[in-house]
Amino acid sequence: MLNNLLKHSDSKIVCIDTFEGGIEHVHDAINMTHVREIFFSNVEKTGRMDSVRVLEERSDTGLLRLLQENHESFDFIYVDGSHYATDVLADLVLSFRMLKVGGLCICDDYLWEGQSDPRHSPKMAIDAFTSIFSEQVQFVPVINTQFAFKRIQ
Ligand SMILES: C[S@@+](CC[C@H](N)C(=O)[O-])C[C@H]1O[C@@H](n2cnc3c(N)ncnc32)[C@H](O)[C@@H]1O
Repeated sequence: MLNNLLKHSDSKIVCIDTFEGGIEHVHDAINMTHVREIFFSNVEKTGRMDSVRVLEERSDTGLLRLLQENHESFDFIYVDGSHYATDVLADLVLSFRMLKVGGLCICDDYLWEGQSDPRHSPKMAIDAFTSIFSEQVQFVPVINTQFAFKRIQ
């Protein structure tokens, strides 16, 4: 993203991650300390550390922090944290308040089938959110298992 999306030197990105992993990481026994190291090493390689703000906390806490700061609105939001529907719904409701009209939101793992309980997958939350906010969002077609929408009002 830093290399391909944030081409303007004034562009900024905020990343919110606990770096504690989610259900999918526990299942696959992924070493999150290593993931965290790779993340910071990749950011460093771009030479754009100053363009990145990292909030190492739950996304709901981080998003509320940004809202309280009256953070300027975002052109692009990528929702790919906790896969629990309750968390994804909170991520969408909170982050949408900071998405510009005309801005794009991409939700990862819309068609993720890692869990038999649908409440443990993002799809239910994304469907609920886009139904409730149907007058403010416009579906944008994407080619993989993600879901994308544009804010239209
Ligand atoms: C599927 S990974 C995706 C990471 C990153 N978006 C990427 O594409 O490499 C999900 C990430 O969400 C983080 N995570 C899980 N639950 C979270 C929560 N409630 N708040 C913030 N981050 C969370 C995990 O630590 C993990 O790094």
